[in-house]
Amino acid sequence: MKHILWSIGHELKLDRIEKASGCYVYDSSGQAFLDLESGVWCTPLGHCHPEVVQAMETQARTICHTGYCYAHPVIEQASEQILDIAGFENGKSVFLCSGSEAVEFGVKALKSLSDKPMLLTLHDSFLGSYGSSGTKPETEWTLLNWEPCQNCDHTDACHPACPVFDAVDFDRISGFVFEPGSASGLVRFPPNGLIRTIAQQVKERDGHVQVNEITTGMGRSGKWFGFQHYDIQPDIVSMGKGLGNGYPVSAIAMTKEAAGRLEANRFYYSQSHQNDPLGAAVAAEVIRVMKRVTLPEQARSMGQYLKTRLEDLGEKFPVIRDIRGKGLILSISFDSRTPDDWVVRLAERLLNTHRIITAKRPGHPVIRIDPPLVITRDQIDHFLEALDQCLAEMAS
Ligand SMILES: Cc1ncc(COP(=O)(O)O)c(C=O)c1O
Repeated sequence: MKHILWSIGHELKLDRIEKASGCYVYDSSGQAFLDLESGVWCTPLGHCHPEVVQAMETQARTICHTGYCYAHPVIEQASEQILDIAGFENGKSVFLCSGSEAVEFGVKALKSLSDKPMLLTLHDSFLGSYGSSGTKPETEWTLLNWEPCQNCDHTDACHPACPVFDAVDFDRISGFVFEPGSASGLVRFPPNGLIRTIAQQVKERDGHVQVNEITTGMGRSGKWFGFQHYDIQPDIVSMGKGLGNGYPVSAIAMTKEAAGRLEANRFYYSQSHQNDPLGAAVAAEVIRVMKRVTLPEQARSMGQYLKTRLEDLGEKFPVIRDIRGKGLILSISFDSRTPDDWVVRLAERLLNTHRIITAKRPGHPVIRIDPPLVITRDQIDHFLEALDQCLAEMAS
């Protein structure tokens, strides 16, 4: 990697990856690694899914890229699929290239939909790597600290006078951007009552709600989208990662009402690969296959199995403090007194001894598990046995 500027903030762990298939990646010596990270949570159907590869190849041989003023029918077909899973009848969508771009597009749209100066999000949400949503300057963003809500009994309904809302002037909020459960990598799904209250307050004042489904979307949480675990109706859904199953395509879906207002406002956003046929063809095929194999349901049942078995391990090893998440977006959180390097060593042992890829969260005693949603029970059992063995060896 002499000529790659390594700027990503994570260490390089395997530098000779050659190919991948399903839940495994293979290095140049032919060793298989069970990928419980799905790349960066991007391959719900498993690496190099044959039908997705076929759709990609067919489209690539036909036309990859059109240009601003030309459209290929596949973008309309993909749009219908996206609006169907988002539940937006007669809504509209746009295809883009990355999760950050989709969220930032949505933020720009929220600003166009309202004259109010501020945006609102939860204090721990990660929204993207650049732009207003990436840096969240305090002149534009109000961050609601929901830490106290974690120990609150009112999980289904908030008291409007609750001090957590003190920092929020709802009259000045144009939009609420909600990231349902990734929470900067820590996998914390906020309480339903809190999110419903915020969405209600914002919408009552003609503000809008955008959900950032880059990580929680495309079935990962056991439903198509993380917001579907909540009693809210978003106006805008941003999706990425799993939408391309490894290919860089993202999208924004919006209600008919929001699209109508943006069109009336002459909302403008344009980049070279917007609505490219190749990305749209991949997205359409990913959704088609996911629907056929009812992947969100699979994620729900496999996730429940994995979570229960991890909780059993927690009974055996008190160093495990709690298992968080829904579906197959899960985190194992260790006792806060556990030294950071102990958790790093655990992840390294899983990788080097058992050839299992997991993700240690930088600066937190947390390991994240986001496997391809097609993971089998045998593969889960293999991971659990390896984890059990590592924990036993490291405890002694
Ligand atoms: C919740 C969330 N939002 C946005 C992004 C940004 O997506 P991308 O890396 O595709 O730009 C990420 C990436 O990890 C994410 O986890």
